[in-house]
Amino acid sequence: MPTLDWIGKQAVVNHDKDVPFRLLKQDPKLSVGDSQNLIIKGDNLEALKALMPYYVGKVKCIYIDPPYNTGNEKWKYNDNVNSPQIKSWLGKVVGMAGEDLSRDDKWLCMMYPRLKLLHELLAEDGAIFVSIDYNEEANLRLLLDEVFGRENYRNTFIVSRVKKNIRERERVKALNFGHNSVVFYGKSDRTLIKPPTRKQDKKQRWHAFDAPGIRPTMEYDLFGHRPPKGRHWMYSEERAKDLISKKLLQPNPKSGKPQYRLEESSETLLDTNWTDLQEAGFDWNFANGEKNVELMKRIIGMICGKCDLVLDSFAGSGTTGHATLQMNKEDGGTRKFVLVEMESDIAERISAARLKSVSQGWGKYEPTGGGFQFMRLDTTLFDKDGKISEPVTYLDLARYVFFTETQRDLDEKKMKKPYIGECDETEYFLFFTEKGKNTFAREGLKKLPKNGTRKVVYADRCLLSEETLRNLNIVFKQIPYQVKLY
Ligand SMILES: C[S@@+](CC[C@H](N)C(=O)[O-])C[C@H]1O[C@@H](n2cnc3c(N)ncnc32)[C@H](O)[C@@H]1O
Repeated sequence: MPTLDWIGKQAVVNHDKDVPFRLLKQDPKLSVGDSQNLIIKGDNLEALKALMPYYVGKVKCIYIDPPYNTGNEKWKYNDNVNSPQIKSWLGKVVGMAGEDLSRDDKWLCMMYPRLKLLHELLAEDGAIFVSIDYNEEANLRLLLDEVFGRENYRNTFIVSRVKKNIRERERVKALNFGHNSVVFYGKSDRTLIKPPTRKQDKKQRWHAFDAPGIRPTMEYDLFGHRPPKGRHWMYSEERAKDLISKKLLQPNPKSGKPQYRLEESSETLLDTNWTDLQEAGFDWNFANGEKNVELMKRIIGMICGKCDLVLDSFAGSGTTGHATLQMNKEDGGTRKFVLVEMESDIAERISAARLKSVSQGWGKYEPTGGGFQFMRLDTTLFDKDGKISEPVTYLDLARYVFFTETQRDLDEKKMKKPYIGECDETEYFLFFTEKGKNTFAREGLKKLPKNGTRKVVYADRCLLSEETLRNLNIVFKQIPYQVKLY
């Protein structure tokens, strides 16, 4: 499979693994209600990593609307990648394409590790949708092919772009772009969507009943006619009889040739042409790429059931959250959203303010209900010497240990200290009350069930002999050195 190469790629290919694992801390002042929806203020690279122990493999719909890299945006690349290659051009100002060829390299370096984390968060039957325009669409496709698998590419939808009129009538280099795109990948063959529909606006017209190609089962006498040479009738004889009985198939009054029309229905199934929708939204006057709520509803509605989780890690004004709340109000669903936005000004004053208004009612809109927790990125789990940081709680560490061991999230309800969970016929235990003082010895053994099941025990140190551990089918792991760095 052809792959894309760019300056700095080697430095970011595994960068998602080096991103420090940080805790999330709720900001009660900006939170609304007790819903499980989240708005996280912070760089999505760290935020996605922090979400991993909670949501790995659980997100049904990812929608992202990253910077389009038009050259007019002021997005910054700042991922603390320490490769000299990247450092050499990190400080350069992002310029227009002709002046600074690294603009695309930077964008690709920014996107790659984020897409890798998103891929891990996505459920096996989930889907990712990415808004993009012509500047990076071709590169994005190759990136997504690499991270999500070429075989998982499904569609590119086109949506109407705010029109700019061509001024020159005579000779121009190119036409104005009339559309932007939404690129859609599934996670696996298990990803299935419900095709979206649009309200029928035109009256159904009569169409000729023949179609090109030779299909002997669809060549029969109809109103004294046979299909023209090299063509066949649209449907089988049985279906034709049904249409005749419904007065949807009849001879054309002038030519006598069969003509049909589709059943009147208020909705029509959509293909990838979504130009019935304008990409931009104008609810919140957010100049930095606000999307149309109807577009978001269409995307979410295609893949999500009523209780699924939607993630948007370039949240902007929070249109994805708005659409989720509105859909829940319309059909009584309990879909959840997680939004990530890096800029304080936007996360606090725009995304959170908008979703508070939407949930509590604003202007002509009824309250949708359903609030959110506003979260900030907190301390890293490990300090710079590799030790567990001071504010880390038992639950924080348990969640992390269980996730790095099993790639699953921990079920708090089943946790019973020191037992933190079970996976693939192994039970996990964590002795961690006071840092540096958790010894696993005879006393600790009494707290483990005597069932012969394989056990992994984490503590600061172990006073039991190798032989005792082996006989009891226990693997001991020392905190913090053997807590895997994800
Ligand atoms: C095009 S806007 C998204 C607009 C959004 N779809 C809406 O309807 O309002 C992209 C947003 O991503 C944010 N962003 C860019 N890089 C980010 C990063 N690394 N982490 C989190 N947010 C980021 C920007 O601040 C900006 O608000």
